[in-house]
Amino acid sequence: MNVLRFSDLVQQGQVAGKRVFIRADLNVPQDDSGRITEDTRIRASVPCIELALKAGAAVMVTSHLGRPTEGEFKPEDSLAPVAQRMAELLGRDVPLVSNWVDGVVVAPGEAVLLENCRVNKGEKKNNEDLARQMAALCDIFVHDAFGTAHRAEASTYGIAQFAPVACAGPLLAAEIDAISKALAAPKRPLLAIVAGSKVSTKLTILQSLSKNVDGLIVGGGIANTFMLAAGLKIGKSLAEPDLVGDARTVIEAMKARGAEVPIPVDVVCAKTFAADAAATVKAATEVADDDLILDIGPKTAALLADKLKAAGTIVWNGPVGVFEFDAFAQGTETIARAIAASPAFSIAGGGDTLAAIAKYGIENEVGYISTGGGAFLEVLEGKTLPAFEILARRAAG
Ligand code: 3PG
Repeated sequence: MNVLRFSDLVQQGQVAGKRVFIRADLNVPQDDSGRITEDTRIRASVPCIELALKAGAAVMVTSHLGRPTEGEFKPEDSLAPVAQRMAELLGRDVPLVSNWVDGVVVAPGEAVLLENCRVNKGEKKNNEDLARQMAALCDIFVHDAFGTAHRAEASTYGIAQFAPVACAGPLLAAEIDAISKALAAPKRPLLAIVAGSKVSTKLTILQSLSKNVDGLIVGGGIANTFMLAAGLKIGKSLAEPDLVGDARTVIEAMKARGAEVPIPVDVVCAKTFAADAAATVKAATEVADDDLILDIGPKTAALLADKLKAAGTIVWNGPVGVFEFDAFAQGTETIARAIAASPAFSIAGGGDTLAAIAKYGIENEVGYISTGGGAFLEVLEGKTLPAFEILARRAAG
């Protein structure tokens, strides 16, 4: 994608002494007391901030946190815990600035964090006045918030329209490079794993991928709907019978291209949805009326693992079973370990997928781990995200 890159501006010596506004995605999970429970997004944002600081810029960083009501700041909306974690990671003070839209005092070589940008009135609807005010704060706008790249808000889109210079930060650039490598020019066979509770939330992704991938592995409630489409019984498992027709169309489209959607040959069932429910492995043809399918079975997992080990490229979104319950985690663990062992270039994204990667400690064996949730899914759908659209338009002049 033809966008201006912040790293190029740094190399060309165009950043020293400039006011640089970085839109990061620091939207991290917190517990009830506000403690950050997972800081990947903060760590992933650090390289861009360090790059700007080393280049001698006056650095302003902002992000949204959660979905606050605009114009009504509440203590739980504050980026204070993020500022503290960022200060630890950068090894320097990171003052948190409130009410910053009208002006920010920051000197070259310093970094400040601007309080939750979604508290500003007009942020979500990409209000032009707000976007112009934010753009006036800087010489260079850097979009480094891949997790928010699918939103057209004032701090992600409008500011990119009106800032003197608008470019992609290293994280945003790395994300799109990795996804393009996986989907635009993949080493084949290209396998995608799309799992999750509902076909409806991922139907467009399944349809889009079915035109490109060599194998489409489905899991979770999605696999149950595909089992119904294949004429199998699923008892009282989670599924969307209304979407069986769509699932069948995906299967047929794949078949017509000589590609496949592997349907489970065995499954792990329980009678109740509980961590301590008795787990029974059954052939996919033996599921009883009162069974709940909570994982793929060992034969299916082994078959899929062989395919993953022979893949050229793997895209992974979603655990294939209820991996939070140990009795129903083997399918996801087998898939995770096969991806780790595969020589394929792999890319993974989505909250549950990241939790599975962390659970099995395979972070270093996955080719690229995306910081995007919804943004990652929209790229898989084949959409051009607003962040890339506006940055490409600015680069074209
Ligand atoms: C995310 O967590 O996926 C991003 O930070 C985007 O958040 P949003 O869905 O509230 O826009």
